[in-house]
Amino acid sequence: MSDREVFEPLARGALVPNLASYRRLHARSLEDPDTFWAEEARNLHWKQPPPSGAPLLTYNLDPSRGQVFTRFMPGAITNVCYNALDIHVLRGNGDRVAYFCEGNDPKDVATVTYKELLGLVCRFANVLKKHGIKKGDSVLICMPMVTEAVVGMLACARIGAVHSVVFAGFSADSLAERIYDCRAKIVLTVFAFWRGTKLIELKNIIEDALHKVETKYTYKINKCIVLPHINTVATANGGDPKASWNNARDLWWVDECETVDNFCQVEWMDAEDPLFILYTSGSTGQPKGVVHTTAGYLVYASTTFKYVFDYKPSDVYFCTADVGWITGHTYLVYGPLANCATSVLFSGTPFHPDNDRFWDIIAKYRVSIFYTAPTAIRSLMKFGDEYVKRHDLSSLRILGSVGEPINREAWLWFRSVVGNNKCSIVDTYWQTETGGHIITPLPGATPMKPGSASFPFFGVEPTLLDDNGAIIKGPGEGYLVFKRPWPGIMRTILNNHKRFQETYFAKFPGYFFTGDGARRDQDGYLWITGRVDDMLNVSGHLMSTAQVEGALAEHSAIAEAAVVARPHPIKGESLYCFVTVNKTHRFDNVLAQELKKLVRDKIGAFAAPDEIQNAPNLPKTRSGKIMRRILRKVATGDRDVGDTSTLADENVIEELFANRRP
Ligand code: PRX
Repeated sequence: MSDREVFEPLARGALVPNLASYRRLHARSLEDPDTFWAEEARNLHWKQPPPSGAPLLTYNLDPSRGQVFTRFMPGAITNVCYNALDIHVLRGNGDRVAYFCEGNDPKDVATVTYKELLGLVCRFANVLKKHGIKKGDSVLICMPMVTEAVVGMLACARIGAVHSVVFAGFSADSLAERIYDCRAKIVLTVFAFWRGTKLIELKNIIEDALHKVETKYTYKINKCIVLPHINTVATANGGDPKASWNNARDLWWVDECETVDNFCQVEWMDAEDPLFILYTSGSTGQPKGVVHTTAGYLVYASTTFKYVFDYKPSDVYFCTADVGWITGHTYLVYGPLANCATSVLFSGTPFHPDNDRFWDIIAKYRVSIFYTAPTAIRSLMKFGDEYVKRHDLSSLRILGSVGEPINREAWLWFRSVVGNNKCSIVDTYWQTETGGHIITPLPGATPMKPGSASFPFFGVEPTLLDDNGAIIKGPGEGYLVFKRPWPGIMRTILNNHKRFQETYFAKFPGYFFTGDGARRDQDGYLWITGRVDDMLNVSGHLMSTAQVEGALAEHSAIAEAAVVARPHPIKGESLYCFVTVNKTHRFDNVLAQELKKLVRDKIGAFAAPDEIQNAPNLPKTRSGKIMRRILRKVATGDRDVGDTSTLADENVIEELFANRRP
């Protein structure tokens, strides 16, 4: 990566048209955040605005001064669903397309307008109410990228229920843990769905999860509402939809919607009422239920969407992220809908029916803003330019990247081949915790450096700290922290405010610590260097080493396991596991396969390890702490292991290299 390689921004007539205006607006947003945010909030509907004269954004980020908190617009009353749908219909935009829905099969297409979406949401909100869901209740949604997933989320928002969406690629164990943790009263799912040529029998996985919820946690949900996703019921379960059906609990989505009417009053919510929970990995292995609230999240999602994608009403926007992740929440649902945008909702894979599916969709809908992940870009790059060139992508004007650092080669390919050298690229850095983009170029303003997320968004003030917590000024590398919150930052971890404080605010009191490192170059650009805690980022999926180690250790043959990340050309990082086998067992290929399967079953297919290495001994300090630094060197085959003087037994290193997997 070169700090000197710079590309001029290409979006003409942008909302923020040049670097000087970005700098001015950014400075103003820090000097007087309340005025900045009040102006942005004015575009939204408030049943009751905050009391005049009261501060909008208040906070404490230092646990030694009492509870850590962020509050935004206390006293204001609104509803997120009302802002996402009703307001557009009332303003005469009901016939605008909210989503072009593109199924796994290219022939499976539909269009949903704002008015139609409102009707679907109202009906489903009434279904939830009919089954006893009230303000504050949790509803767990585990669905693929179908319109009904969005309907479910907005229906919850409409009646003040808190949705907890779980990616439909998690295992039954992971699902059970999440269903119980948020005490979901209802689960929404689909019977089965296609991912490429693979049929995922989701209802069976849910069944398994619900069984675990009852036996392991002695907790019972009330209802499971199932969408009979087209073409799948006849294929799954040997054609028998009742094969895993519980008459007292399971209901068909479509039947339920027929029993209710299509008007549903919104529940007016306080600014700080929770909107949703989204689980993210924690370094202890226990997932964290990240809580986002109403007004701050809404304003932040809406504002970042508008500026970062330079959104104009003539745009067609395509975000490939799954609704099960934060990108799906903020930039597939809430951000675009708050801006009355037209989006593509795609439920297939980039490789089906062929490796040009994304390009086909962009050409078909004349997409102008395309937002995807580096891992997808890298995997599509390898098929060559021909797949892209086959399609007319001239509608594109802005390209976005999210989820992990984007390497220079992928960035350049994205720009020249996909964007035909005519698009700005926004490399957006953020997290589940941050609610929206926090470090990102703006497409009309920021000269781009390939691989750099560049500068902070409005209201955001990043700082780099060294090991001692001292501020690094000018060029340098350190821990990426934030001196103040912004409206969309998480408020707590569900049922565990103590863990929230310890995870994000204990290491550097007074700052929100992201868990990432970053470097600042001589021009002030920020380059995210990756996680500095025990987290891994595989294809943009964040997971903890502890979580994978815990799964491996459940195998009766395993005495101990240690997991590290190894760089991977497509996935960014892959899992490389070291296992010490019990005296009573032997390490062989069969065991390695069993262990890979175990991790898939315990966490989900996306967490499957690439390599399992036999490690009769692990590199430990005299106090018994595993030195992961050395394991990372072994995984990459780098003999330059550095200082080993603190190791209890230095002979371990040779043994580890001897057993290394290529
Ligand atoms: O390490 C950073 C990486 O992804 C982490 C957040 O993961 P998650 O909460 O799952 O949210 C992903 C979607 C926002 C971060 O701590 N990350 C995300 N975006 C970037 C990134 N690393 C570098 N550059 C990015 N643009």
